[in-house]
Amino acid sequence: MPDYATIRALHLTCAALSIGGFVLRFGLMLRGSPLLAGRAARVLPHVIDTLLLASALVMVWKGGGMPGRDAWLNAKIAGLLLYIVLGTVALKRGRTQTQRVVAGLLAILVFAFIVSAAVLRSPLGFLAPVAG
Ligand code: HEM
Repeated sequence: MPDYATIRALHLTCAALSIGGFVLRFGLMLRGSPLLAGRAARVLPHVIDTLLLASALVMVWKGGGMPGRDAWLNAKIAGLLLYIVLGTVALKRGRTQTQRVVAGLLAILVFAFIVSAAVLRSPLGFLAPVAG
């Protein structure tokens, strides 16, 4: 089993690939590109997101002792579910272009929230100053 630092690096790489890939597919959707239906656009996101979640779970299992970790981890899990739902609305389920654009922008915002919850180690993430 690779050490914690390696798993963490994999997690960060997959997080970057996940949002990078999403923004690319969002752009393809806006242009009505047939590439969105291509093999790479359909398969790669699943591989990346599975690795992102698997690396997260290994860190949860291996790590520990970090104070208040459960709270921001729960916030990240909730955020991840929301990011996935918004992502499918943006790329597939949204019935109008407006619905898709709004969902896509919200997905990017939720992703930024997840990163902020991780970096700030706070379940409120970048909302902490607003929530007081
Ligand atoms: C889109 C989804 C996710 C993104 C963008 C993301 C992003 C990040 C980032 C940026 C860090 C580094 C934080 C820092 O040390 O400054 C991190 C660490 C971590 N994340 Fe995630 N994460 C995601 C999903 C998850 C999920 C679902 C879990 C748990 C179930 C999780 C568990 C962890 C853990 C345990 C760490 C390690 C903290 C440490 O040891 O320093 N992540 N994540």
